[in-house]
This record gives sequence, structure tokens and C-alpha cells, in this order.
Amino acid sequence: MADNAHYDICVMGLGYIGLPTAAMLATSGAMVLGVDTNAAVVDTVGRGGIHIEEPGLKTVVRAAIGSGHLRTAAAAAPAGVFIIAVPTPITPDKRADMACVVGAVEAIVPHLRPGNLVILESTSPPGTCAGLVRPILERSGLKVGESLHLAHCPERVLPGRILTELIANDRVIGGHDRASAEKAREVYARFVEGEMFLTDTTTAEMVKIIENTYRDVNIALANETAVLCEKLGIDFWDVARFANRHPRVQLHHAGPGVGGHCISVDPWFLVERFPADTPLIGLARTRNDAMPAHVVARILEIVGDRPNPAVAALGLAYKGNVDDLRESPALEVVRLLREKGCEVRVNDPLVKRAPCETLPLEDCLKDADCAVVLTAHDVYAELDPAWAGTLMRGRNLYDTHHLVNPAAWRAAGFNVTVLGSGRSAE
Ligand SMILES: NC(=O)c1ccc[n+]([C@@H]2O[C@H](COP(=O)([O-])OP(=O)(O)OC[C@H]3O[C@@H](n4cnc5c(N)ncnc54)[C@H](O)[C@@H]3O)[C@@H](O)[C@H]2O)c1
Repeated sequence: MADNAHYDICVMGLGYIGLPTAAMLATSGAMVLGVDTNAAVVDTVGRGGIHIEEPGLKTVVRAAIGSGHLRTAAAAAPAGVFIIAVPTPITPDKRADMACVVGAVEAIVPHLRPGNLVILESTSPPGTCAGLVRPILERSGLKVGESLHLAHCPERVLPGRILTELIANDRVIGGHDRASAEKAREVYARFVEGEMFLTDTTTAEMVKIIENTYRDVNIALANETAVLCEKLGIDFWDVARFANRHPRVQLHHAGPGVGGHCISVDPWFLVERFPADTPLIGLARTRNDAMPAHVVARILEIVGDRPNPAVAALGLAYKGNVDDLRESPALEVVRLLREKGCEVRVNDPLVKRAPCETLPLEDCLKDADCAVVLTAHDVYAELDPAWAGTLMRGRNLYDTHHLVNPAAWRAAGFNVTVLGSGRSAE
């Protein structure tokens, strides 16, 4: 196919969402062009490689590229369907940063033809399709709802299970009109086995944002409960276990904070737009953002008055068994510890490009006064306490995820502290 030829689908953004989606569509038989503004991504994927860690992704991308159904480029080209899967982060003052969405939509305008369908997959503040995307698309001279179709189809996959969930999850498809929603459903029917629910664009946008807000508010409640349990001298994990035997209670996990591209970001989209109407949502964000400072205060208690204590930070990624650092509370814990004069050594076997130096586990633990589990990677659950004890200067372990077996660590002579537990060591 020549470079300016007509593709079935053009996917803008080849990240955690766009790349698996493009590869799945290509392996379903569509001719797909994957576009990314990052030249290294275009090159890596174009050669059948991947630039992010995700189980099974390499195989699907290699097959898609190998079959000739997936190609990559730095610029958009004519296609029947355009899918926008670019980042929607927040600015430092907690406002939705829609620059990538605007850039991607503007980039497709010159290629739009009557009958095209544009699908926004990026998580976006309610009203984005109608108020931001539509006016840009109509610069083409085509009218949304007449000669152009527009839909929002948010993504709810879990990193680490993206390919499985891409197929299995139910999807909500919001159309500018019924025809747009139905056309979008046809696209996803190529690989989605979950149920698909059709609605309008703003409802679909709100569904996605409120799913993440629900999680954030509930995690804030768990974190607040954990802090209270520490003060009460009881164990949050017992409280959660017992409370969750109630048929209508599902207390979430407490932890060192909330990270990732979604849960810690999306609630701000509502707070920004409706500041007077979102006291609960804003407070939950503040509660979760306060957890790294809480973690640091406990580490300082554990190491006592030792000057410049050495802390082994186990994990940087925002959640277990992924390499994603975005908004990771572990980064904030490391920053705050250094600010307090701690000598922090960091290990994360999954993260390839960290903003600070990372060390092999052995070097990270060597002569440390305290090891702190900041990310629930399996490798830390499996860590041998006897081996760690031979390396460390102080036998202190602080587990912010309730990940390790405390009895095994205590048997190896460790003082074990678990976030949320106010019990002194048994
Ligand atoms: N990662 C997740 O688990 C997840 C889950 C649900 C929803 N989302 C949402 O999906 C969207 C994409 O997230 P992601 O995790 O895939 O992001 P990502 O950062 O992994 O990838 C986005 C890609 O888009 C590229 N890009 C930026 N601007 C571009 C442009 N104008 N044209 C073409 N490419 C451009 C970037 O170079 C990058 O490679 C976000 O709105 C996010 O909130 C992500």
C-alpha cells in the first residue's frame, strides 16, 4: 500500500491504549495506520517491536506488522475511521491538559472525507466531544451528524491485563447521534467480546470519569481508615477483611497514595469544571495525595534519630507488576525522603527509564537502615528476608501495601511495620 493510500483505520497515539487497539484491529483484518508524534515509537513499532511492557503485546504487534496490516507513520493519512488515543494529563495546577487531543484532531482535519468516523478514546472531561472536538473537525467543511460521524469510546482496561480486557470488557460507546454510535460499535465488534452499550458522547465521557472518581473516593476512605487504625492501635487489614463480610460493603485497599494516568488525574477534570459542586471529590484527591507524606513520617519514626538514614526504596512504578511511573506516589516518597536528608537507594526491576538512578536489589538493600515496599511487585513478595537481613544494616521493613508475609520477616529478625497497622510487632 502506498503511503498516501486509504487505510481502514488510523490510530493517533501508539501508547498503552493506542498500540494494543491498533494491533488488535490489524489482526482482525483491518488495514491500520498507527501514528505517533514520537519518532522512536514509530520506528520501534514499525519494526514489530514494542516500547512499553504489557503481557502478550509483543506477539500481537509482531503479527500485525508481519502481516502488513499495521503500518506506522509520524503523520496521519486518509482513513475510514480515526481513533484518537493520546494522553490527557493534568497541568501542575490540576487542569485538564487537552493539548495532545487538540493536536491529534487538528492533524486529521486535512484528511477527513464525507462518511468518516472519528472516535475519541482519550479519557476527557465531560463535554469534550461536543465542545472541543466537534468544532475542530468542522473546520474541514464537513458537518458532524450529517457528513461526519463522531463518537467517544472510553477505555477501561487494567495495565498488565490490557489485551485480555480489551477483548472481554463491556464498553460504553457515546455517539454524537445514533448513527455515529452504531458505526463505532461496528469498529469495536471486530475484537470486543464484552457487551457494548450505546449512549451520547457526554454521558460516555462522564461514565469514564466517574468510574475513576468512584475508585479514588473509595481509596481515600480506605486510606483515611488506615490512618485511624494506626492511631487506634488496630489493624486496617483486619478491619477491611471483617467489614467486607458485610454483603454491601467493599472497603478498598489502603496504600502509599494513588498514581497512574487515570485515577489520580481524572477526578480533577470534574473539580476544575465544577469547583463549588465537588467538595467530596476534591477532598478525596487531597487525602490520597497526602499519603506519601504519611509514609515518609512513618519511615522517619522507624529509623529514629540515626543521622542521614539509608532507606532502600523497593519500587517506583505506581502499581505492582507494571513499568508505568506516571503520577506514582513512590516518586513522591523518594523525593520527600531525600528532602528530609535520607540517603535513598531505589530499586525497580520493571522500570527501564527512571527519573532517578535505580540499583540492582542487592545494592539497594546493602547497608540500608530500613527497606520500604512502595510498589506491590511480585518480586518483593517473594524476597527472601534471610538474604535481605545479611545485606542490611538495620532490620526494619515497612510495607505500604500489605504485600510481604510479616511472620517470615519477623522470624528473620526484622521489625516489620505495615501501613494501616497500629499494632506493635507480635
Ligand atoms: N494507560 C491506561 O491504562 C489507560 C486506561 C484507560 C484510559 N486511558 C486513557 O487513554 C489515553 C491514552 O493513554 P495512554 O496510556 O495510551 O498514553 P501513552 O502516553 O501511553 O501514549 C500516548 C501516545 O500518544 C502519542 N501522542 C501524543 N500526542 C500525539 C499526537 N498529537 N498525535 C499522535 N500521537 C500523539 C505519544 O507520543 C504517546 O506515544 C489517555 O486519555 C488515558 O487517560 C489510559
